[in-house]
Amino acid sequence: MIIIKSDEEIKKIALASRIVAEALKRLGGMIGPGVSTKEIEEFVEDVITKMGGAPAFKGYRGYPSILCASINSEVVHGIPSKKRVLKEGDIISIDVGVIYKGFIGDGAKTYPVGKIGATARKLIDVTENSLYEGIKMAMPGKRVFDISFAIQNYVEKNGFSIVRNFVGHGVGKDLHEEPQVPNYGTPNKGPRLRKGMVLAIEPMVNAGRHEVAILDDGWTAVTVDGMLSAHFEHTVAITDDKPAILTTVE
Ligand code: MF3
Ligand code: CO
Repeated sequence: MIIIKSDEEIKKIALASRIVAEALKRLGGMIGPGVSTKEIEEFVEDVITKMGGAPAFKGYRGYPSILCASINSEVVHGIPSKKRVLKEGDIISIDVGVIYKGFIGDGAKTYPVGKIGATARKLIDVTENSLYEGIKMAMPGKRVFDISFAIQNYVEKNGFSIVRNFVGHGVGKDLHEEPQVPNYGTPNKGPRLRKGMVLAIEPMVNAGRHEVAILDDGWTAVTVDGMLSAHFEHTVAITDDKPAILTTVE
């Protein structure tokens, strides 16, 4: 069942999402060569706590951290560690969830570490743009797979591939609610979108093949061909007209 949120509930999701956005924005200033993913975790935990929120990922199905930090060929769910230190030319995807007054916001962004290569730059740009192509479809009257198709179409047109094993999702009191929002699909299919639905839309895009494997830690998803992967995510509310992106700092 897809839960329709009231305006009051959407305000709470917006407050949680604002904290996510603030953390992701401030990370832009601290990510660089020599920084460990553990330091990133501590930095974000501090932002979340100071803004009155609580982490939404820690303990979710046993996940051990407040965020996911996925470097280069890691797609999603990389676990922060003192031993993972960023170096010039890396790309890193950070995924954060915050709970505030009982409601969750979910967002992700891929950052360059210092100067990066042309393919890495293009991968980041195409992934971020594909998210906005999907968000454009988040309107009443459209269907879930209109979002999916818009993302897939944009990504494949640009020569990259869409990860199938992980999908976007409804978000609210729970991190993962219905509907699932795949990043690939047939237009004009799937559940109809209505005002009051809140979706976490999150394309994961690979530079090479779309297949992923899970490492022995049981979490970290990596590309099977060892090529780069990027991830962007916004929490978006369906309104009467334009989609409302909630994971923003304004
Ligand atoms: N944004 C991701 C998702 O929606 C993050 C979940 S990580 C987990 O699936 F650890 F909480 F599972
Ligand atoms: Co998500």
